[in-house]
Amino acid sequence: MNPMKVGLLGFGVVGSGTYAVLTRNAEEISRRAGRQIVVSKVATRTPAKAVAVFGDKVPVSNDMAGLVADPEVDIVVELIGGTTLARELVLTAIENGKHVVTANKALLALHGNEIFALASKKGVMVAFEAAVAGGIPIIKAIREGLTANRIQWLAGIINGTTNFILSQMREHGLPYDTVLAQAQQLGYAEADPAGDVKGIDAAHKLTLMASLAFGIPIQFSKAYIEGITDLDQQDIVYAERLGYRIKLLGITRRRDQGIELRVHPALVPTKRLIANVEGAMNAVVVNGDAVGDTLYYGPGAGSEATASAVVADLVDVTRLHTSDPGNRVPHLAFQPSALSDTPI
Ligand code: HSE
Repeated sequence: MNPMKVGLLGFGVVGSGTYAVLTRNAEEISRRAGRQIVVSKVATRTPAKAVAVFGDKVPVSNDMAGLVADPEVDIVVELIGGTTLARELVLTAIENGKHVVTANKALLALHGNEIFALASKKGVMVAFEAAVAGGIPIIKAIREGLTANRIQWLAGIINGTTNFILSQMREHGLPYDTVLAQAQQLGYAEADPAGDVKGIDAAHKLTLMASLAFGIPIQFSKAYIEGITDLDQQDIVYAERLGYRIKLLGITRRRDQGIELRVHPALVPTKRLIANVEGAMNAVVVNGDAVGDTLYYGPGAGSEATASAVVADLVDVTRLHTSDPGNRVPHLAFQPSALSDTPI
């Protein structure tokens, strides 16, 4: 079969990680997807960096409109961030019958209802595992693993930057500004880190999870949002003395009056698992009526951690387009002949 052709919009922290993972694990990824997945085109604001990686193997340009119109591109991966140009490009890609994979939680929190409606009309997928909790497969867990449950509530640490800042301030007594600069260098923070520290990024993610968990439209404007900007070192020290850690939590639950959506710093007793989630790690507890509490933990930000989720979405979309029906559902996707010497 022809390879599945991916057009990459953006080649920053997550874009370059996506390419690295796709290349390094190409064999396993193709086997699991049932078809080869190749990057056939790249469009970025700074083509020089991508040219250095792709050379003349892949056309690199800054022509984003050209990429989403290119009939050769099967899946558009949107990693440019922001909500204005990203919205235009994603809607155009969908209009042109392309599947979309995106890590852009702001885009989906603000324009998701419009984007998903169009995708549904055009019969294409918009996959967004990477938009929530980085490398943790939380979207898959809510949508598939817990599909038998009436979800009652979910709560968690869903912003790596702020968790990293709070951890470093507590463990090393470092000042807020110093740690924020570290988070930016490590590729955890958004281009404008105000979205992280004010709780907005966490609220974007919470809104998306709530929509899936409760089957409601995306309603970002209804969220109560408070970030970590008013906290100081003393709050962290005193909390610790009293047996608590301060964590920025996103919480959503069913209430008689409707669905509650809130993001704010919370005092979590240190004996709770979630209090011990440190650095840029994320953790989400989801409560379902059948299963009870389930906990999902892993890297919430960073290049290859987020790329892991982007590539998982690429595999999911590709499975829809394989000649082997066995690959259209996520079975093991192994070759029987490979069992003995190539374990997956
Ligand atoms: N800025 C985000 C965070 C990146 O710190 O969690 C991952 O969504």
